Amino acid sequence: MVNQPLIELSDCNRIPQLGLGVWQANPVEARTAVRHALEVGYRHVDTASIYGNEEGVGAGIRDAALPRSEIFITTKVWNADQGYEKSLRAIDESLGRLKMDYVDLLLIHWPAPDKGLFLETWQALIEARMTGKTRSIGVSNFTEGQLDELIGSSGVKPVLNQIELHPFFSQGAMTHAHVQLGVKTESWSPLDQGEALSNTVIQQIAAKHNRTAAQVIIKWHLDQGLIAIPKSVTPSRISENIRVFDFELPPEDLHLINELNQYRRLGPDPETFS
Ligand SMILES: NC(=O)c1ccc[n+]([C@@H]2O[C@H](COP(=O)([O-])OP(=O)(O)OC[C@H]3O[C@@H](n4cnc5c(N)ncnc54)[C@H](OP(=O)(O)O)[C@@H]3O)[C@@H](O)[C@H]2O)c1
Repeated sequence: MVNQPLIELSDCNRIPQLGLGVWQANPVEARTAVRHALEVGYRHVDTASIYGNEEGVGAGIRDAALPRSEIFITTKVWNADQGYEKSLRAIDESLGRLKMDYVDLLLIHWPAPDKGLFLETWQALIEARMTGKTRSIGVSNFTEGQLDELIGSSGVKPVLNQIELHPFFSQGAMTHAHVQLGVKTESWSPLDQGEALSNTVIQQIAAKHNRTAAQVIIKWHLDQGLIAIPKSVTPSRISENIRVFDFELPPEDLHLINELNQYRRLGPDPETFS
């Protein structure tokens, strides 16, 4: 088993720094991918109700037959389920599909500001934590202003904000804001959905270290203290993506990757997406 770093969250729970993402994996693919990932050393899986694969994720976890306490599982409340009562129902439904008593981390998937419901939704997540349905609570795709509003109104800080972050969109302002707030940063689409793998600079760095482009990018995330959840349903790639704890990237290579930032989003703008 890979001995991988754990990041301590503000509520003192700990999250494995590298996890498996499963967006766009169907339930059968998710089941096989999760089982393989756990067998090769992953201990962290990131799903969401909207991915439609929570059943597969739960089945893959049971297939691997590890103690539940060794695995960190995240799911998310979808935009259409925002609001206090609806969110509580959605959380129970996610647990039912996963066949679990609790998840380790529950996130509000998007702030969806036009709905005006994320403060209410946050109260449901606080309630879910009090009743033991989740160990930790956080958010995804929140802007700095939305984080301030959430924390100011509830007095409860999300343990992390899961945001789009990869070499072409490195989110310096948000990661700085997170450090100031004591909120961890988790990178979604850490490989730029595979696009960054063909970048020449990254390929040259990979060749120099006798590694793959994916391993170099994942290492770049981890070296910054970010939590990263690369997705793959391909067993060889799942194995490849966790073989990143036995090499170092020197500062000059990290600097070259930092220079690739193009302020280019893949996903929607959190200020308007609903
Ligand atoms: N909170 C949010 O709003 C949000 C939004 C998007 C994503 N996420 C989360 O973040 C996770 C990761 O993001 P993502 O799925 O968008 O993209 P990603 O992890 O950046 O990239 C995934 C793509 O890269 C390919 N890939 C993975 N490892 C590879 C390797 N070693 N060599 C070559 N290709 C490789 C995968 O192919 P195969 O699968 O075919 O192997 C897939 O096409 C998601 O799965 C989800 O859990 C969250």
